[in-house]
Amino acid sequence: MAQSVRGVVSVKRGEPVEVRTIVIPDPGPGEAVVKVQACGVCHTDLHYKQGGINDEFPFLLGHEAAGVVESVGAGVTEVAPGDFVILNWRAVCGQCRACLRGRPWYCFATHNAEQKMTLEDGTELSPALGIGAFAEKTLVAAGQCTKVDTAVSPSVAGLLGCGVMAGIGAAINTGGVTRGDSVAVIGCGGVGAASIMGARLAGARKIIAVDIDQRKLDKAIELGATHAVNGKERDAVEAIRELTEGNGADVVIEAVGRPETYDQAFHARDLAGTVVLVGVPTPDMKLELPLLEVFGRGGSLKSSWYGDCLPSRDFPMLVDLHLQGRLPLDAFVSETISLEDIEAAFDRMHQGDVLRSVVIL
Ligand code: APR
Ligand code: ZN
Ligand code: ZN
Repeated sequence: MAQSVRGVVSVKRGEPVEVRTIVIPDPGPGEAVVKVQACGVCHTDLHYKQGGINDEFPFLLGHEAAGVVESVGAGVTEVAPGDFVILNWRAVCGQCRACLRGRPWYCFATHNAEQKMTLEDGTELSPALGIGAFAEKTLVAAGQCTKVDTAVSPSVAGLLGCGVMAGIGAAINTGGVTRGDSVAVIGCGGVGAASIMGARLAGARKIIAVDIDQRKLDKAIELGATHAVNGKERDAVEAIRELTEGNGADVVIEAVGRPETYDQAFHARDLAGTVVLVGVPTPDMKLELPLLEVFGRGGSLKSSWYGDCLPSRDFPMLVDLHLQGRLPLDAFVSETISLEDIEAAFDRMHQGDVLRSVVIL
């Protein structure tokens, strides 16, 4: 039987979000209904609400979530009712060319739940990133659920479903940071801060945090950065070079998503260094690169898609490292709030006051 729960909906472009009654169908084949326990507030939710992603309003927002599987549809083998899970954006198929080449994060046939959640009047909802977890319950594809150790707090677990995974993955999966590396992270919001933590986990020797907001730099040092550079006061490229004996960093991670900062990242890399773009650019952004420098300095320019993660491999691993005290993810939870507080939390995020607000259900 379909059930009604409360959820946060962005009804119209740019308008404040509303707590509405939403209708969740019983899970069909390959689907699961998850009782959401915690869901982080991410920039992408704000972008949906502002109409920056697409126009398929109304959106059911929220996508950095963890919870307990309530029921599953026919043929579901991945998870069972009662499992504690972290949700991911899209289930991978396991069979396409990308999956078979061992790069499932580029899967060509990812999917979400087929059925739609609706408003009470039957209007279909578009779930943010195929999740829609600012709600007491949500409907997803079973492959979007990854079972993890129940000892982790739901608020921390949920963060691994998006921004924190993107940041850690940019360092360890895409950037391949390894013991002894020098790493520079440009932009130390939620994503960049997670890259710093990933670099530390991987044994980086120097971790240079760059931001234009001193509060973010203070936090970065707390999380394990060894040096902080305020881009408002200093030229970031010069500072990174100076801190690396004039060489530049082995891995430079751009976590802002702007051409200027990607350009800085490009020039701040060491000979044969790696540049990772994890900040999401807008369609109009362009970058001009001096080809001779690409050639002469070598190395690689990469982008990191969702931290190039494989949820079934990475979520349980990061949860275990956290439980062992090697990944202090609690630092990302700036405040816990309720569904009613989300609109105000967007403002605080926009002002840069918080790393993450987490809705607890
Ligand atoms: N130089 C250095 N840092 C900058 C600059 C700049 N020119 N401009 C902005 N920043 C910093 C901001 O001060 C902020 O701390 O970049 C950080 C961006 O962080 P958030 O706004 O918190 O965003 P976050 O959630 O970390 O995401 C960063 O990754 O996933 C993408 O869409 C996301 O593009 C965004 C990026
Ligand atoms: Zn997100
Ligand atoms: Zn695939």
